[in-house]
Amino acid sequence: MVILVTGGAGYIGSHTCLELLNDGHEVIVLDNLYNSSPKSLERVEILSNKKIKFYRGDILDKNLLSKIFAENKIDSVIHFAGLKAVGESVEKPLEYYENNIGGTIALLKSMRENDVKSIIFSSSATVYGVPDRSPIKEEDHKKDCAHPYGWTKSMLEQILFDLYNSDNSWNVIVLRYFNPIGAHKSGLIGEDPTGIPNNLMPYITQVASGKLKELGVFGNDYNTPDGTGVRDYIHVVDLARGHVKALAKIKEDCGLKIYNLGRGKGESVLDIVKSFERANGIKIPYSIKPRRPGDIDSYYCDPSKAERELGWKAEYDIETMCRDSWNWQKNNPNGYR
Ligand code: NAD
Ligand code: UFG
Repeated sequence: MVILVTGGAGYIGSHTCLELLNDGHEVIVLDNLYNSSPKSLERVEILSNKKIKFYRGDILDKNLLSKIFAENKIDSVIHFAGLKAVGESVEKPLEYYENNIGGTIALLKSMRENDVKSIIFSSSATVYGVPDRSPIKEEDHKKDCAHPYGWTKSMLEQILFDLYNSDNSWNVIVLRYFNPIGAHKSGLIGEDPTGIPNNLMPYITQVASGKLKELGVFGNDYNTPDGTGVRDYIHVVDLARGHVKALAKIKEDCGLKIYNLGRGKGESVLDIVKSFERANGIKIPYSIKPRRPGDIDSYYCDPSKAERELGWKAEYDIETMCRDSWNWQKNNPNGYR
């Protein structure tokens, strides 16, 4: 199939482009490179030995969208483009709503105009808010989100549900990601945060490389086995493969579907630190800091619907994720720069 991948130069997008090319799809990327480098795509081309057609530009740019749909016979869209920094979204809510919601509406309108009615959307576990239970199932209630970023995901899901209800000829797959970490095993592509990382794994790898002195563990008095926050970490390559499986589903005229993509296992912050140390033989100094506002004590998903309906299951374990994250950081101390 011919797939338009918005945000394809980013962390999850670049890994997905590689899996799509390896699966024989044709890949067109639209990315404004706000949070990414074109080098990620060059490296995907090296790894796959295939070409990507790249448009540098914005999903808010209606003329560019029309041009892309006119120039290519697109079968389906995988929509990653968006801003994702939780803290920044609290400071700049309008920019987040404009980019994520305005951008997605522009994309959906252009898709409709060009009769491309098939989309896979990057949603997030954040739409479950503080969940009533773990493992979380897709039918569990969505809750209030803790930040504008989360609300953009929750609202965009609703927009997609309403769109589908207005016109059942759309095929919409909403993928709710849990916590992606890791990198392609080659060490050529990976997560490249700007500035001091907000997320756990890139922080750990920068402590391992000596760039940062020690990890701050945000709270050890949560209601979890060791008191530190528990999450469902998933290898980014497993996540990327979930999109390839979702494409096969969308081809069958699936209607509207929602899937959790996670491993279905909870790991604490200290579990991750220990696994990283074991996998790489590097000590990670840490100290306990106050809780981070908005953090939830523990959640992980039930991924069995994706296994049943997509034939997808995460394969990689935590140590592999830690090894691959470090391999990327070690080989690219300054990311793509
Ligand atoms: P990323 O920032 O690495 O990738 C997003 C890409 O979108 C970037 O390349 C950026 O330049 C591009 N982009 C942003 N706004 C754009 C616009 N208006 N027009 C064109 N391009 C634009 O992020 P990621 O981690 O790869 O996440 C991909 C998607 O998955 C995002 O929608 C994110 O919200 C979602 N998600 C990520 C996580 C995570 O932990 N990484 C978890 C759940 C959901
Ligand atoms: N943590 C630390 N120290 C750090 C960074 C994180 O102790 O320096 C802890 C957090 O408190 C949390 C766990 O590590 O317990 C994971 O934190 P991340 O920031 O890596 O991930 P989150 O679960 O907070 O957030 C992620 C995505 C968000 C998304 C959210 C829900 O980054 O975009 O999952 O899906 F909204």
